[in-house]
Amino acid sequence: MIGFIGAGSIGGAVITGLVKNGFNADEIIVKGGHSNHANLLGEQLGFQVVKKVKQLEDTDVIFIAVGANALDGVLKELKEIVAGKLIVAFTGSATISHLKQVLGDAKVAHAIPNTPVKVGAGFTGITYSSDFEDADKKKIASIMGYTGQLVEVPENQLGILGTVAGCSPAFLDVFIEALSDAGVKHGLNRKLAYDAAIGMAIGASKLAKQSELNVSALKDEVTSPGGSTIRGVAALEEYGFRNAVIKAVDAAEE
Ligand SMILES: NC(=O)c1ccc[n+]([C@@H]2O[C@H](COP(=O)([O-])OP(=O)(O)OC[C@H]3O[C@@H](n4cnc5c(N)ncnc54)[C@H](OP(=O)(O)O)[C@@H]3O)[C@@H](O)[C@H]2O)c1
Repeated sequence: MIGFIGAGSIGGAVITGLVKNGFNADEIIVKGGHSNHANLLGEQLGFQVVKKVKQLEDTDVIFIAVGANALDGVLKELKEIVAGKLIVAFTGSATISHLKQVLGDAKVAHAIPNTPVKVGAGFTGITYSSDFEDADKKKIASIMGYTGQLVEVPENQLGILGTVAGCSPAFLDVFIEALSDAGVKHGLNRKLAYDAAIGMAIGASKLAKQSELNVSALKDEVTSPGGSTIRGVAALEEYGFRNAVIKAVDAAEE
């Protein structure tokens, strides 16, 4: 059995990704917050919702998906049932040292998923406490595997990885919207423009993932001398596209 504390944006996305990709909803217990959100999601997906952290006693892995302001209250309650469990916190401020300090001997991990976990195509960075054993890591990987990729990184890289993989879906959404606007400006209807832009983003990402070439070589392949694509790439550079993306990450990291 696995437990979740909080089923908001990221908790709900991970739970949805798990259940929609074959994880048994009967194996999930969720302790919800003050709103009806967890109950509504539970009705849709078929997992059990409980009112108290203590009711997660029979789980062996617990994911914490509350915001920073609720974290310490949750940890205090969790401390009573934590023995023998693996704790994975998604909360941004839940550093390994903070979790250890409050939870004592429990094996803890800090993870930053991104929203594509919801469709099983997520990218989650994770840092484990030093007492996590290989079998413990395998257990977490076997759960998170339903939601996409899980990559272990040192904790000092978790923040930037979270920005590159976690803030960027919004950046890509802005790019897709802008590309669709350009298509409409040049005569496509809105639906077709969105379909084309989204289809391209999925296809180009799949190609970049599967190809042996790096993305710069893939770009070179489609830019024929004096052609339309290289003119478009030059315009992107002229208007600071690359710099805008780097500045967006800088801003998110501040
Ligand atoms: N959103 C992302 O893409 C993302 C990605 C990685 C990490 N994170 C981190 O994850 C944390 C949560 O972010 P979020 O975007 O999911 O926030 P959110 O949508 O506000 O969700 C937080 C949830 O926690 C619930 N909650 C609050 N106190 C609780 C308690 N005592 N017991 C059980 N549930 C409780 C709230 O339930 P009620 O509303 O019902 O009270 C709410 O549904 C943040 O620290 C964020 O930095 C977010």
